[in-house]
Amino acid sequence: MRGENRQRHTPLCVGTAVIGSLQFGYNTGVINAPQKIIEKFINETYFERYQEPISKTTLTAIWSVAVSIFSVGGIVGSFSVGLFVNRFGRRNSMLMANVLAFIAAALMGFSKIAHSWEMLIVGRFVVGLYSGLSTGFVPMYVGEISPTALRGALGTFHQLGIVVGILIAQVFGMEAIMGNDDLWPLLLGFIFILALIQCILLPLCPKSPRFLLINRNEENKAKAVLKKLRGTTDVSSDMQEMKEESRQMMREKKVTIPELFRSHLYRQPLLIAVVLQLSQQLSGINAVFYYSTRIFEKAGVEQPVYATIGAGVVNTAFTVVSLFIVERAGRRSLHMLGLLGMAVSAVLMTIAMALLDQLKWMSYLSIVAIFAFVAFFELGPGPIPWFIVAELFSQGPRPSAFAVAGFSNWTANFIVGMTFQYVEELCGPYVFIIFTVLLLFFLVFTYFKVPETKGRTFDEITAGFRQTAATGGEKNSPEELNSLGADSPL
Ligand code: GLC
Repeated sequence: MRGENRQRHTPLCVGTAVIGSLQFGYNTGVINAPQKIIEKFINETYFERYQEPISKTTLTAIWSVAVSIFSVGGIVGSFSVGLFVNRFGRRNSMLMANVLAFIAAALMGFSKIAHSWEMLIVGRFVVGLYSGLSTGFVPMYVGEISPTALRGALGTFHQLGIVVGILIAQVFGMEAIMGNDDLWPLLLGFIFILALIQCILLPLCPKSPRFLLINRNEENKAKAVLKKLRGTTDVSSDMQEMKEESRQMMREKKVTIPELFRSHLYRQPLLIAVVLQLSQQLSGINAVFYYSTRIFEKAGVEQPVYATIGAGVVNTAFTVVSLFIVERAGRRSLHMLGLLGMAVSAVLMTIAMALLDQLKWMSYLSIVAIFAFVAFFELGPGPIPWFIVAELFSQGPRPSAFAVAGFSNWTANFIVGMTFQYVEELCGPYVFIIFTVLLLFFLVFTYFKVPETKGRTFDEITAGFRQTAATGGEKNSPEELNSLGADSPL
């Protein structure tokens, strides 16, 4: 009965869900290029109100708040994921979140007409809320609708959405397109269109079959959804696997965030999930994405804006590479390769920056080093931490785990964004050495602690952790975890 001529819904569903990721990336990248133009608007508005020019410190303060309040929204949003996904379901939660995107688009899009930088700041916060929620909703929904063998590849689409969003924002933000005095409100309000498209498409996507079966106990609906998603009538092995997870759930029920921290059962997967999120952010990637133009300028590059867009292109290209190899190479090895490559690139970057005064051609080396840094990031540390959370936890603790992981990610993102410029002033060309040290630490952690999750069902993976916890944490090397999960009775 397999392979009947039905249409598969999975591509549509993944594509629609990752519009949320696209929004996250777009708003990460959009504020970089038009900085001077929006500062001019703040300056003029200030003058209108107070009949005196704005001081440099006030302007910097308003600008920093406008930039970083996005991550504060992200912290709050990601932490709230658990409030929605079990009550309304994964798909409907994504649909509802768009209310935030519409509000944010209106606030930012009309801030110029209303002569109000406050609207801009509140809008950035609201779209941060939306993005924080998306970093939980999207990988959770995608992880739950994907067949085991494609979970990593489809999971990488979340990251692909983010990087494409960054790239679009970089291109749209060029002066000739929308990064100018007249059109910058449109540049920020553009998210309205993305939200609209997602609202039209989401109702065509089915609910998560795991949510239907495990949380709602609606077996027939779950089966019907699976048939649609897989384009086949024989979904018995998927159903079987989900029922296993469900049976396990009966014992553990929904797990709240405090319970997640208290139970020794989740200690190891939680540690891994959090450290992997930290490895993503403390790798220094957003030092590049927030400040690349400035870094390139300091490295003596003549056209820093184009170099920045170049970094966006490399970023996208290597996410695609990762998508094709993640199911073959595995998560653990790709993550380690990525971290190691980033560490080496960071050293090269430091050498290039330090020798720039003596050797002019070092500016080329710095471009190569930054591109390599970004490329290695996307092989592993970019996509993997996002989707591995769904893999490390079963349905009961999954929403709480996403909340904690998202919170760690966004907080680290905020810290890097806020402090990088100050630390750079202190350390000069040696600033990336800090990231090198952190990267090596994460490499060692991954080697000793992270199990391979490729090709294993959710239930096999969590069975591995359950048995580790039962041995009092004695058996917890990656090899032991893998073997435990593999021969666990299903
Ligand atoms: C990851 C990070 C995000 C970063 C992006 C760069 O998705 O979470 O903060 O900007 O990668 O590609």
